[in-house]
Amino acid sequence: MAKTNQSGTAGSAGNNNDIYNIVLLIVDIVVLVAKFWIAIVEEVFKAFTTRPQSNVAGQFVLITGAGHGMGKEMALQYGALGAKVICWDVNEQTNSQTVKEVKQAGGTAFGYVCNVVKREDIVELAAKVRKEHGFISVVVNNAGIMPCHPLLEHTEQETRLMYDINVLAHFWIIQAFLPDMVERNEGSIVALSSCAGLFGLPNLVPYCGTKFAVRGYMAALAEELRLKNPQTNVKLTTIFPYMIDTGLCKNPRFRFPNLFKLIPPQEAAASIIEAQREGLEEAAIPRRFVAIEKIGRLIPRKAMRLVNDFLDTGVDSDKH
Ligand SMILES: NC(=O)c1ccc[n+]([C@@H]2O[C@H](COP(=O)([O-])OP(=O)(O)OC[C@H]3O[C@@H](n4cnc5c(N)ncnc54)[C@H](O)[C@@H]3O)[C@@H](O)[C@H]2O)c1
Repeated sequence: MAKTNQSGTAGSAGNNNDIYNIVLLIVDIVVLVAKFWIAIVEEVFKAFTTRPQSNVAGQFVLITGAGHGMGKEMALQYGALGAKVICWDVNEQTNSQTVKEVKQAGGTAFGYVCNVVKREDIVELAAKVRKEHGFISVVVNNAGIMPCHPLLEHTEQETRLMYDINVLAHFWIIQAFLPDMVERNEGSIVALSSCAGLFGLPNLVPYCGTKFAVRGYMAALAEELRLKNPQTNVKLTTIFPYMIDTGLCKNPRFRFPNLFKLIPPQEAAASIIEAQREGLEEAAIPRRFVAIEKIGRLIPRKAMRLVNDFLDTGVDSDKH
């Protein structure tokens, strides 16, 4: 009889527990649905309003590949905004020229020669820079190369070099500067992906691989930071430029040059800085390309290929 009572009590406790868990689950679902719609409304609202831009005056901004192209233009424009620019490039002459021009325009800049292929050099130089200047607020992983020909014509050496510069160097640089940012709960990391990180393009098979990799690791890192600290103030911005007139893209091909044309590096640099200062997670240049990629993914591939063939825009091989 006593046995029956005990199991009866255990049974009703179990039932209470089940009811409690079901109520908890229902509350969780209601909270999720409410937060989900609030987040959507917030993001739609943000899309139609001007976002405040963070102040970079007096802060240290480190740019790799500052000797030429978008890196150089970013150095000049960050300098004009009052930031103290730290220029890294493998090319001492062009890097020094950038530093000189930032200073001539009344800004502050420091130049360092760095081949980002060499991890030991990055680690050593990062320690030196942190010792000399302290906290680096913004790090822009910009240096990149773009050999452009069919996959079967790519050598092992150039393929490995592309991954070293376009992807692996980013990891070594982030590992050097992110810990300070996490500790202070502030700072920005900007990574140059490309439209070749949104769309697969002929003649750019390994390059697309590197730029999709940038997109992937930045998305994963954002999740790591968010789960570690849901209130994180460390911003990650991935940039997807279309073709920019720096000379990197040697043989661009356009059927409709009025619709798709080379973008001046000054304009691209301004767009990158704006995205960083607004704390955008992803920004294409022009901005509409991220939306086009998202819509493109909903459309069957066969249909999208017809549109791509009609537009006939891309890059021809640099070997012919
Ligand atoms: N130009 C474009 O059309 C375009 C489009 C999309 C994305 N991007 C990306 O934007 C970034 C900048 O492109 P850009 O057109 O301004 O390039 P760029 O060729 O004009 O300048 C690149 C700079 O990086 C430096 N660099 C190259 N290898 C290096 C190394 N091992 N160590 C240190 N510095 C090195 C070069 O010396 C040069 O100063 C790249 O990552 C590129 O892939 C460019």
